[in-house]
Amino acid sequence: MSTRLVGIDEAAALLSAGGLVAIPTETVYGLAARADDAAAVASIFEAKGRPPAHPLIVHLASSADLDAWAREVPPSARRLADVLWPGPLTLVVKRTSRARDEVTGGRDTVALRVPRHPMALELIRRVGVGLAAPSANVFGRVSPTSAAHVLAEPFARDVAVLDGGQCEVGLESTIVDVTETVPALLRPGGVPRETIEEVLGAPIADGRSGEARAPGMLASHYAPRARVIAVKDAVEARERVRGLTGSIVVVGSEGIEGARFVRAEADEAARARGLYATLRALDAEGVDVIVVELPSERGLGLAIADRVVRAARG
Ligand code: TXA
Ligand code: MG
Repeated sequence: MSTRLVGIDEAAALLSAGGLVAIPTETVYGLAARADDAAAVASIFEAKGRPPAHPLIVHLASSADLDAWAREVPPSARRLADVLWPGPLTLVVKRTSRARDEVTGGRDTVALRVPRHPMALELIRRVGVGLAAPSANVFGRVSPTSAAHVLAEPFARDVAVLDGGQCEVGLESTIVDVTETVPALLRPGGVPRETIEEVLGAPIADGRSGEARAPGMLASHYAPRARVIAVKDAVEARERVRGLTGSIVVVGSEGIEGARFVRAEADEAARARGLYATLRALDAEGVDVIVVELPSERGLGLAIADRVVRAARG
């Protein structure tokens, strides 16, 4: 199986005809297919080796399309869509019949998002239907934040890749379930939890513990080949490094004897943007252990910490 670069005209033609195209979004690259075509959607799962019950996000061109896909749009959902779309926010809503079982895993809900990468928006407009797209990586691996990352993925299907540059956010979208009275955070991501609470003027619930609400999210995910160890600070990093053998890298605030040092960006947005590229680069070098200092869980720090902890479980 192979991956190859295509331009936007070919990408649009392939998608329209039911093909698979890896497309840039502001969060991570997505492996897209038209959401109204059961065979096209099935090929996403085959290419990634993704379990079929894991539902996909449908990418829309505008928040005006929300009502075609959601049979109930609570005021909280309308407000979040108005203020934060296009952007790295996914809303889980009760679905209309437009959302096929192949996309939702047979659930009564569907996950929707309007991305803000101009190429993604143009493709959705040109194809004229929503695009179903998970991250464009083989199941369980680190999400791709550049076309080069996607080109290196060992997909089980031929995949065309549209190069839209390095992803601006670098972490997946924040997923909020708005089907219950109090909206629940299912996955922290590119929109900080604080921003969502500000827009709503009320706190949201933490929905990360219920597997029923967040299918496929408890599994260890986002894992590089190297062993990842998450630590709270440099003191803990030093203790952990002492007991390790092999080639060790510390990503954190200060260098530690016995390990190579990669300074973690102090700016959270910069750290988020570069996190997956750093993990991929260290993997490519054949590093054995990556010890990562966790950021504070404020702002984008919550999503960064979430992904590092998942990588450490992998
Ligand atoms: O930023 C992103 O969200 C990227 C880009 C490509 O848009 N996409 C992405 O997709 O991260 P994926 O498939 O790797 O993760 C989507 C997650 C799934 O793991 C699933 O748990 C959740 O979205 N999800 C999808 N539909 C859902 C539903 N109906 N109810 C609850 N969770 C759902
Ligand atoms: Mg993914």
